Amino acid sequence: MNIDNTRHLQLDRESRGTRYYRNAVERHWDPFDIDLEADKAALVDHLQTVDEAESHFDGMRMGVARFGAGEQAVTEDLAPLATALDDIDDQMFVTTQIYEEAKHTDHFDRYWREVIHHAEDELGFERSSPTDDKWFNDAYDELFERNEDAMNRLLDDPSPETFAKAYCHYHLVIEGILAQTGYYGMQQSYSESDHPELPHLPGLYEGFTLIRQDEGRHVGFGMAKLKELVEEGVDPQLLDDTVNEILPYVNKIAANPEDEYVEDVGPSPTELQAFATDKHVERMEQIKDAAEDIPDLESLTELQGVGDD
Ligand SMILES: [Fe+2]
Ligand SMILES: [Fe+2]
Repeated sequence: MNIDNTRHLQLDRESRGTRYYRNAVERHWDPFDIDLEADKAALVDHLQTVDEAESHFDGMRMGVARFGAGEQAVTEDLAPLATALDDIDDQMFVTTQIYEEAKHTDHFDRYWREVIHHAEDELGFERSSPTDDKWFNDAYDELFERNEDAMNRLLDDPSPETFAKAYCHYHLVIEGILAQTGYYGMQQSYSESDHPELPHLPGLYEGFTLIRQDEGRHVGFGMAKLKELVEEGVDPQLLDDTVNEILPYVNKIAANPEDEYVEDVGPSPTELQAFATDKHVERMEQIKDAAEDIPDLESLTELQGVGDD
């Protein structure tokens, strides 16, 4: 029990935590409301027209598998933050974040069952599994293991530095760089017109749009917390050092030209890396510069729409 009797009412409606919590409630969506019928048809049609359809299909399956596994990992690993934070407004927000990560996991699991398996059945391919080791690489495993460790450390040592490292791993690097670069790449690839050599998958596209709205709040919360920590005396160098230590793993995941499943379609690795670097530099400035504000909720939830830049 942790009732703060210096508060006249329970919640601080002006706080970022409660405002973001309310925004999450108001923008609630259900993964099962996304219509996947057009994706099922378009994917089968597309695979029937390309050469070496099964290996071509691997590029897309790898993307969906990595997103699904990533969303599962962040669902599993956020809980220590809810325990370590002791402000009710912050905790209100974290409850929405865990729930949203679970919905993202739900969406990708459903996509595999309903769209990918359907295409495999129609084309006579063996049904594949999103948990197969072949979709992942060492950098992917290492990055998520480090994230889990950074989050678990909050339980033993909830110091400002431990919080800063946790937000750097989880919110800045995994959500802010890896995931947002991935959404950008996937949405560019499977949108209506950008890459005519790939199928247009409106359900996949819509899922990414909804997930990005949620992720805008998640990244915004992490950035605001980092800004508070810096204002309270955490050395900004710690943020740079933490991010720089783990960035090489991201570069081997999001846009690895040596990845055997990455085909020469969709945005190029160079374009993806440039996108990630630009976004990151901008965010670090907003965190470290006392005069710069964290973007407001509307722009955060619209962060990085395809073609915004
Ligand atoms: Fe997510
Ligand atoms: Fe997230």
